[in-house]
Formats: sequence, structure tokens, C-alpha cells
Amino acid sequence: MTFTVHAYRGQILFFDPILSTIQQPKPIWHEDGLLIVADGRIQHVGDYETLYPSLPPHVLVHDYRGKIISPGFIDTHIHYPQTDMIASPAPDLLPWLETYTFPTESNFHDPQHADQVSRFFLNELLRNGTTTALVYGSVHKSSVESFFTQSAQRNMRMVAGKVLMDRNCPEYLQDTAITGAQDSADLIERWHHKGRQLYALTPRFAPTSSPSQLQSCQALANAYPDIFIQTHVAESQAEIAWVHELFPSYRSYLDIYDHYDLVRPRAVYGHGIYLDQQDWQRIAQSGASISHCPTSNLFLGSGLFDSHQALHHQASFSLGTDVGAGTSFSLLKTMAAAYQIARLKNHYLNAFQLFYLATAGAAQQLQLEMVGSFSIGNEADFIIIDDTATPLLSRRQNGAASLEERLFSLITLGDDRCIQATYIAGQCQHLRS
Ligand code: GUN
Ligand code: ZN
Repeated sequence: MTFTVHAYRGQILFFDPILSTIQQPKPIWHEDGLLIVADGRIQHVGDYETLYPSLPPHVLVHDYRGKIISPGFIDTHIHYPQTDMIASPAPDLLPWLETYTFPTESNFHDPQHADQVSRFFLNELLRNGTTTALVYGSVHKSSVESFFTQSAQRNMRMVAGKVLMDRNCPEYLQDTAITGAQDSADLIERWHHKGRQLYALTPRFAPTSSPSQLQSCQALANAYPDIFIQTHVAESQAEIAWVHELFPSYRSYLDIYDHYDLVRPRAVYGHGIYLDQQDWQRIAQSGASISHCPTSNLFLGSGLFDSHQALHHQASFSLGTDVGAGTSFSLLKTMAAAYQIARLKNHYLNAFQLFYLATAGAAQQLQLEMVGSFSIGNEADFIIIDDTATPLLSRRQNGAASLEERLFSLITLGDDRCIQATYIAGQCQHLRS
């Protein structure tokens, strides 16, 4: 068997997926490195001087000297049908949902519209260096068909699911416990593990699912033990008050999901701003995780996520843009917002921690170890970062005293302009012009 081999020379950064923790990420850095990719997978990574002599003579070496080669970013919470309503003003989560979200998502009954938005959305992820994402569709089964079709065409490692909601939303957007479960089961059979696609069971949040819909989620989650689960929890105070009215007998918001066996590995809870000690313990012990969505939480005024509590309880969390409540597709900007929120909570997340959360950390939590780092055999999803992409960045990086300081400036001042190229399974899918 012959493989197509390509090599990439540059400054290589990734995190040891085994030895790293959020508390102590272990960066691996090659100042003059070589990444060797064969047939879409990582064949070797190391110092240029050591590896170059072993390369067969015909191998093309792409010269990215001066640029950082990193695994692609992983966004663990994003709504593709909300692309066109990003930056819509509202005083709180619930009016925002009613005024913008539900009407916008209703357009996805039209598969052509869904195709067109999926294409734009995936290109936007690539422009921002995001190579894997956990993606909400709309309530329409066909919205997820469109999404997976487009994602499969680009060979991207995507996790997505049809939103389930059978109450407390406009009738034109409701499924039922039975149709929602049937559509989800059909999509799982058709798309879960098809190529690089993976399915996420996606009840929108507890208020829009009846107890019988949550029960059908439980049945599906038990029938398909390796699917993902994604939903929202404890995002805003008004939302939580509503949840307590709807589910008065539960100890906490998270407890509702737990009752239906939905708190488990590969379950990703968006936001988690108002969790109590018991909830945090439950997240830590169950293997579920929180997706921290800082730009969204600032935009809607939802509140300040407590990363210190998460670390204290050794509970997993990763980063989500939460577009369209989030204000950017960029994980760099999301890291910057996470840093600022940590500071407002009198906590500190350093640049290594933030990069780790957006790469190997997310991959480990989600059992997606085939991406997020440059372990041998991993899928070759990687990005070329130009941390001098703007005049200000270029000037600032001249004075960077350490790698950590350099990454911190990149996070604070960087955005999509810093993503020079994005490779998916070894193929260049975005090149910044
Ligand atoms: N809670 C329920 N649905 C949504 C949504 O679409 N976005 C956000 N941010 N929170 C939600
Ligand atoms: Zn969300």
C-alpha cells in the first residue's frame, strides 16, 4: 500500500493528551518542528533536524517557519441554525429565544436553506480554525441531514443532533415525544460513525421537553451508549426559576437530566453557571462535562461561569462559542473571554490552560482522542497560526518574553485573521488570502 506523505515545518505546539490536566497542561513544543502526515493521519512529529533526514526524497515539505502548527480547535457548543441571527439584541435569554431564535430556526424546514446555511457555517468554522464542533441543528430532521451531508463532504469530524422540543415553544417548531425519538433514531442509524460524523442526542433544554420526551431520550441514550448528549443547564436566573416551576420535585436543574440517565460520559452541558456543590460533584463523578460559553454569557448577561469551582471539584469543562448567542466563531476570542470571566471571579486561567481546553482537553473529555493532539495515528486536523497577522500583534510579539506570554497575546489580540490555513485529515480546506 502506498501513502501520500506530506510534511509541515514550523513551530509545533500541542498538549500531551495523557499527562495533561486542566490544572496542569503539559505543552509539547518544537521550536523548529516537523509534522509528518501520511494518508490523513499523523505519522510523526518532532524536531526538524532529527526527522528531516528520514523523510523519503519525494516528500513535499510545506514551509511554515515562523508560524505555529497546532491541532485544530474544538468548539463544544454551537447552534448552526443561529448563524444568521448572531448579534441580535435582547435583554435576557428567554426573550432572546422568543424574539429571534425560534423564528430564525423555523426557516430550517426548508432543506435548501439548511444546505446553504450549513455550507456557510462550516466554511466559517474552517476560517476560524475550528475542525471539530458539537453542533445543534433545528427541530427539523432535515436540518441535520443537510448538516451532516455538508460536513461529510468536507470530511470533518463533527458531532451534531436534531433539537428535541415538544412544548413551551411555538407550535410550528414542536415535535412530539414519539416523532422526536423516531427522527433521532433514524439519524443515529444513518449518521453515527458514518465516516467522521457522530450523533448527539439534543433535547434543547428541560423547559421545552415534556417528561415523556425526556423519557424517550433516556431510552435512546440507553439503546446507543456511545452517542453524545448535548443540552443546556443553569444558564440564566429567569430560566432556572422557570425550570423550578415546571419540575418542582427535583433537587436541582441538573438533577432533572440525571433522573433520565442523561448525566454520563459524552454528555455536554452548555453553560452551567449556577451549579451548586452537589451538581459539581455529580459532573465530576459521572464523566459528563460543562461547555463554558463565555462570549454568550457576557452577551446575554447570563452570568459568570465559575472555573475555579470546576477545577476545585475536578469536573471537566471545555469551551463553546454558543453562536448565535455567542458573539464570535473564534475560539481565540472565546479563550480571551474565558480568561476575563475567570478574572472577574478572582480566578486565573493561563494561556496554556486555555489552549489545552480548546484542543486536547476537549478531546479527552469527549472521548475524541483521535483529534486534539498530534499523537501518532491521530487524524490530521491542524491549523497554521500566524501570531503576527495584524500590525499590533506583530509589534506586541516582538517583545514576548516566553511562549506563554506569546500565546496570551495571541489569545487577547487574535481572531480569524490569525488562522492562515486549516487542514482537515491532511487536506488544506482553508487558506487565508
Ligand atoms: N437555552 C435553550 N436554547 C438555547 C439557545 O438556543 N441558546 C442559548 N444560549 N441558550 C438556550
Ligand atoms: Zn446554546
